[in-house]
Amino acid sequence: MFPVQLKRIHPEPGSLTPVEAMSGLKLGDLAPPERPYVVANMVATVDGRAAIDGKAGPIGDEADRELFQELRTQVDAVLVGAGTVRAENYGRLVKDPERRARRERAGLAPDPLALIASHTGRAEIRDQESIVLEPNPDTLRELREQRGIRSILCEGGPTLNGSMLEAGLVDELFLSLAPKLAGGGVEPGIVRGPGLPKALDLALVSVYEHESCLFLRYRISGSGS
Ligand SMILES: NC(=O)c1ccc[n+]([C@@H]2O[C@H](COP(=O)([O-])OP(=O)(O)OC[C@H]3O[C@@H](n4cnc5c(N)ncnc54)[C@H](OP(=O)(O)O)[C@@H]3O)[C@@H](O)[C@H]2O)c1
Repeated sequence: MFPVQLKRIHPEPGSLTPVEAMSGLKLGDLAPPERPYVVANMVATVDGRAAIDGKAGPIGDEADRELFQELRTQVDAVLVGAGTVRAENYGRLVKDPERRARRERAGLAPDPLALIASHTGRAEIRDQESIVLEPNPDTLRELREQRGIRSILCEGGPTLNGSMLEAGLVDELFLSLAPKLAGGGVEPGIVRGPGLPKALDLALVSVYEHESCLFLRYRISGSGS
């Protein structure tokens, strides 16, 4: 099987594998003093839906899944909302031994710390220990000071994204824009909740393309870092 080859459109044209595209990001080096650096990763249809029939899986393609897995090799911890853990039946975050070895070569623990955002505690990740918390400036500071966590990948869902963005706790957004239209229905967009006090400005960092799917990386202005 040939590896997925991504076309880089921005900043400069090129051709890379997902491993090449998502290696050496050194996200922890970007952390502000008081908390870890936080990047969110989401996939959406062109009409902005973050789920089809209650799941994200049908939206993304093979390249999206590989990039999603590779991003997990770049962070100290992965944060997921309890609604997503329940909907998506989450298991061990980095299953592939090669990816765990790559994490170790990059100076990270073989498995990222698994964090579940929940008020009720009604969620569990299979085959991996996890910590349940209410993410806010205080709990993120504790993760930094007491556990040395310098980078977090937030995998949503939309409710968690809404509360994290509202609190100014997200520094970047990785968005896969899948070449699909989901149509009407009740599925959320990538952010939901009471609304942000003001619209946040984003700056484009990079764009990759694979079979009409766009992989966008944005820096978020006014995120507190
Ligand atoms: N397209 C994508 O990339 C993507 C990614 C993830 C999920 N999804 C989809 O999104 C849907 C789930 O949406 P959702 O909005 O329910 O997901 P969610 O944000 O994962 O879950 C919401 C739940 O997470 C907990 N939570 C969120 N923010 C919290 C905070 N600041 N403090 C404490 N707890 C917090 C609460 O759990 P408790 O109820 O336990 O208190 C809340 O009920 C599913 O269909 C899933 O497939 C799509």
